[in-house]
Amino acid sequence: MTSSTTEVLGTAAQVAKLFGTGLQISSMYESAGARLYHGITRYENAEIEEFLSTAQSGEGKSVLELACGTGRITVPFLQAGYEVVGLDFSPSMLELLAQRLKEDDAKEYEDRLTVVHGDMTDFSLGRTFDLILLGASAVWNVGAGGRAGLFNSVREHLAEGGRFLLTLIEFPGMAEDSPAFETQITFAAQDGDPQALVTFFDYVDPGAQLRSTNILAQAVVDGSVVGAEIYTALTHLVAPSALEREIEAAGLRVLGRHEVTSGYQILKSSARPVTVQLLEVTR
Ligand SMILES: C[S@@+](CC[C@H](N)C(=O)[O-])C[C@H]1O[C@@H](n2cnc3c(N)ncnc32)[C@H](O)[C@@H]1O
Repeated sequence: MTSSTTEVLGTAAQVAKLFGTGLQISSMYESAGARLYHGITRYENAEIEEFLSTAQSGEGKSVLELACGTGRITVPFLQAGYEVVGLDFSPSMLELLAQRLKEDDAKEYEDRLTVVHGDMTDFSLGRTFDLILLGASAVWNVGAGGRAGLFNSVREHLAEGGRFLLTLIEFPGMAEDSPAFETQITFAAQDGDPQALVTFFDYVDPGAQLRSTNILAQAVVDGSVVGAEIYTALTHLVAPSALEREIEAAGLRVLGRHEVTSGYQILKSSARPVTVQLLEVTR
């Protein structure tokens, strides 16, 4: 619990205290955390329909997907006929993406995917794209300095008339002095090895402009809990209006905003009203 990437806030921090040294805290996007993330989101359809329909409303078939992870959005784009370059900085997530591309519904499209291990806040691929995608509100994964680098890199990689599509969570009515809140959901992950009792603790602190998303996995063997781990991601809240100002400061232009209705399970259960927008941006 020393580095900021594994800083845990909210109830998950109390759980960590309760278990003490018996509980390990690690990143949601590395090693076992990545495998758990992939297991949970493998069949999650949130945002896919909206990304595809917005992409298909314009021209072009070349796609750069930033923070592509294990391919939740990548694979539907390959299936829809796009050529995709997927960029992510987690080797574990990219390894799982490579495995995902061996599965029956994806393997015939494998040659249309190029995977790049890189940082979305500073990349240089030496070419441009018709579409650049950033899903799962992963723009929150980077702080203000990182976002400036991200938007500059995006601008340099957009083809003439190309579009940058990104999703963004908003908690309407939330102000900086609003109290912190948390959403929890628990389910039995019966397909895992070992099976686990999984609890999501999704903590949002408007004052600190931080979101701490935590997955507590309690491994169950022969009816007993045999171990517990927390997989965590710390992200940075930014309101749509502030984000749009940053986008414009980077020499980009917001073309449109689309409501995303295919929400993630954790957001459908949110303790506060929540909306997700898909922003359509161009040079
Ligand atoms: C919430 S996951 C989204 C993955 C995938 N797009 C999806 O919808 O399931 C966030 C992803 O962002 C990646 N990521 C976070 N910061 C990054 C950065 N600076 N550069 C590249 N990837 C990053 C993580 O490794 C992780 O795969």
